[in-house]
Amino acid sequence: MSNKITALAHSNLALIKYWGNHDAKLRMPLNDSLSMTLDALTTETTVEFDSALENDEVVVGGEPADEKTFTRVAEQLARIRQLAKIETRARTHSRNNFPSAAGLASSASAFAALTLAGTRAAGLELDERALSVLARQGSGSAARSIPGGFVEWLAATNVTSTSDQSYARQLMPPEAWALRDVIALVSADAKKVGSTEGHALAHTSPFLGERISRLPMRYHRVRRELLAKNLKGMGADIEAEALELHMLAMTSRPPIFYWTPETVRVMDAVRAWRAEGLEAYYTLDAGPNAHILVQASDAAELAQRLRALEGVRAVLSSAPGGGARVIETHLF
Ligand code: DP6
Repeated sequence: MSNKITALAHSNLALIKYWGNHDAKLRMPLNDSLSMTLDALTTETTVEFDSALENDEVVVGGEPADEKTFTRVAEQLARIRQLAKIETRARTHSRNNFPSAAGLASSASAFAALTLAGTRAAGLELDERALSVLARQGSGSAARSIPGGFVEWLAATNVTSTSDQSYARQLMPPEAWALRDVIALVSADAKKVGSTEGHALAHTSPFLGERISRLPMRYHRVRRELLAKNLKGMGADIEAEALELHMLAMTSRPPIFYWTPETVRVMDAVRAWRAEGLEAYYTLDAGPNAHILVQASDAAELAQRLRALEGVRAVLSSAPGGGARVIETHLF
């Protein structure tokens, strides 16, 4: 079999966050999460199974992958081989359309693209749900980069829940709401503590139980306001959710600090601009960059203000994006 396939997937921004697993090996999360797929941030991945190969080959951004990345990709290829009942090794090349040094490097778009290209190259035709389940095992948030638009990922936390019940599905298509994620890049450093490690440490925070017991109410409010396309209605919950993720990180043992002084400066500015009438709300992932949600009509104004802030190195703006898809242009 020599079937070369290339897939493109977008990154996603969580409005309700994934933080902590109840089954770390399968990446079954502790809670449901909600996200917006990001049109502006993409990964393209080409996969080809080749019987002449003795080992998997993994190239990222034109360079051989480091050991950690290689292992994670090879594990995902092994899951694909198991499903397809083949032994053949694969050549895998991928590239992001954003500089990985910007601290935006996202495993979500990478594992979604790898899962789609890899399964097709192996001769499998999985439906969206099965792709999401498989992508999830490579990187949890990748489950949410399989569907497009506004997405929910069901945790499936009952004692009887099985892996195939934890998948992401579309809540609203990308064109349903002209929302923008305006990203303030404040740091070019690669993050110090990866998300995988962060998820494992979540269990050491004394506040995890409190979060998990209260989260369903917030989840349903944000989901309802999202479907109503009411930014104001979900804004306070989105900011509280981001702060809670960071509170869990900061109270883990050992603690993890993802913020920098610049992050706090952006958060303060967003609050001040909101008081003046600019309807904008921030959220943060496991890194120092701030993501600010605004209506499309306010995005240019917000970007201009952010660029003038001390410590902001660059500003990107993203519309809601589509789902993972096969494309015709190969990387090799
Ligand atoms: C803070 O999906 O990167 O962005 O499953 O270990 O690959 P792994 O973790 P990952 O975690 C993302 C965490 C987050 C919140 C979110 O995207 O929901």
